[in-house]
Amino acid sequence: MKIALGADHRGSEALHQISILLEQHDAEASLCADRGGRTCDYPDMTYPVCLAVRDGQAERGILVCGTGLGSSIAANKVPGIRAALVHDEIGAEMARRCLDANILCLAADLTGPRLLERIVATFLTTEFEGGRHERRLAKVRAIETGGSPGAVADPGDPDESIMGRPALGG
Ligand code: RB5
Repeated sequence: MKIALGADHRGSEALHQISILLEQHDAEASLCADRGGRTCDYPDMTYPVCLAVRDGQAERGILVCGTGLGSSIAANKVPGIRAALVHDEIGAEMARRCLDANILCLAADLTGPRLLERIVATFLTTEFEGGRHERRLAKVRAIETGGSPGAVADPGDPDESIMGRPALGG
């Protein structure tokens, strides 16, 4: 799997750790927007990573800044990008399983190396579940393209009841 990477000055060290993790998961960095710790405004490293994912040069992206907030806000301005700011393994699982997140945003200032490792591993190995989540993402895309989520056809949900749904992602 090809992964585009980006970090600002606060995320540069964590990004180095992530690039080593990618090798362990047989993933390859297709692009690395990183200035080696020199000052970088987060939109400047976010944008090329988003373009690489949007244009198919990378399957997914990982962005690291101090809080993860700036990069997630900037990334979600790019049509086709579903960037998720994640602080733990459950968030990483939900981001992939339910939201088909194609960009993982991480907070270098708030995430220790062991947790970072687990979040990245979960993001790389969890597949999108599809089903009802497809409809919800179609509604997100409707908003993205200036439409209304209510205009998305709802074919009906065979499992409309929340009974029996998993505690997470239901
Ligand atoms: C950089 O100072 C900081 O603003 C950035 O790393 C990030 O935390 C923004 O959300």
